[in-house]
Amino acid sequence: MDQPLETRDALPDALRVLLRDYPREGWQRDPNFHGLASMWLDRHLSFRRLLGLMRTDAEALLDRRLDPQAWAPRLSRLGGHFVSDLHGHHHIEDDHYFPLLVQRDARLVQGFDILDRDHKALDGHLNAFVEDANAALRALEDEAALRTGAGRFHAGLLRLEGFLDRHLTDEEELIVPVILRDGEGALGH
Ligand SMILES: [Fe+2]
Ligand SMILES: [Fe+2]
Repeated sequence: MDQPLETRDALPDALRVLLRDYPREGWQRDPNFHGLASMWLDRHLSFRRLLGLMRTDAEALLDRRLDPQAWAPRLSRLGGHFVSDLHGHHHIEDDHYFPLLVQRDARLVQGFDILDRDHKALDGHLNAFVEDANAALRALEDEAALRTGAGRFHAGLLRLEGFLDRHLTDEEELIVPVILRDGEGALGH
């Protein structure tokens, strides 16, 4: 079972066993939601927001509604936050949370393999994001080259948004039901 990030449209049903008992609509009302689970979802929301901001900025630049001199420092700042925060988040998951969570339910082991492979795949997509962003920023003084570079950056951003959303959604649907069922105390919190 490979289930690559780029072509998956959901977790396999076999890994959604807990989600049936803890459907997303009920998460917020669960007494075990506030704390680790809500923090995890907030973190994911911040990555989605950062990507959305960079996408709307790139669209404004391409539509000539945003001056390149105003766009460049915003992209540098948001892009830097995004990449370093997401790398940090993946490290905490890989080193701390996944090894604890995987012990909670033997049925979910393959799910953590999928998430682990997603992180490696996302590393490659993040490198491409950085390269595209830097290429566009280097072309700031050359209108035609900037439009080409920004167009390429924007197209890559749309792909990355899709891949990241797939990973975050699947990760949430695997992990949050475990936290709600077992309580975050089971994870050493
Ligand atoms: Fe993750
Ligand atoms: Fe995550």
